Amino acid sequence: METIHGIRTRRSIREFTGKVLEDRVLEEIAALGFFAPTAHNLQPQEFIVFKDKKTLEQLGRDLKYAKGLKTSGAGILVMADTRKQPEPGFYVADTAAAIQNILLGIHAMGYGGVWIGVYPVEEYIQVVKETFGIPGHYMPVGLIALGEPVTAKEGLDRKDASRIHWEKF
Ligand SMILES: Cc1cc2nc3c(=O)[nH]c(=O)nc-3n(C[C@H](O)[C@H](O)[C@H](O)COP(=O)(O)O)c2cc1C
Repeated sequence: METIHGIRTRRSIREFTGKVLEDRVLEEIAALGFFAPTAHNLQPQEFIVFKDKKTLEQLGRDLKYAKGLKTSGAGILVMADTRKQPEPGFYVADTAAAIQNILLGIHAMGYGGVWIGVYPVEEYIQVVKETFGIPGHYMPVGLIALGEPVTAKEGLDRKDASRIHWEKF
């Protein structure tokens, strides 16, 4: 898929057929997160890819807005190594860029995905850390539910020229 078309047509997909993606495909998708820009090129991003049905269902239940995980074929947790990048504003930006890369890659491959927010909600951070046994110096920032979509979603034309300012506000 051509990049600009992919950016303009990506949508959040929250209902999946449950088809399990191959590890090879999941690794290729997660690895797209390494190609995102990071502040000072510190590259704090790390990933947990998970397919275990119990984990998908448990997180789908325990996190208020994570229902997408219940039917997804897999999930990817995106976290930051805060020893590499201690500044929260930067590690959140770094991992957010990685998440968007992954979402665009999922879309380009003909699958669907949705970003499930973790940071900065303390309750969600604790649930995720406990579920995956994450050491203290890693900060989970977002989860991605992904898989084969039940139905495709139309891209939306969100361009708003009134919010693009030129030269001065
Ligand atoms: C930081 C962030 C957190 C989000 N958290 C959730 C979430 O917890 N659950 C969910 O279903 N969607 C979540 N989303 C997806 C948004 O709801 C979605 O992007 C928005 O409604 C626009 O729809 P679209 O992605 O189809 O363009 C999140 C998106 C962002 C950027």
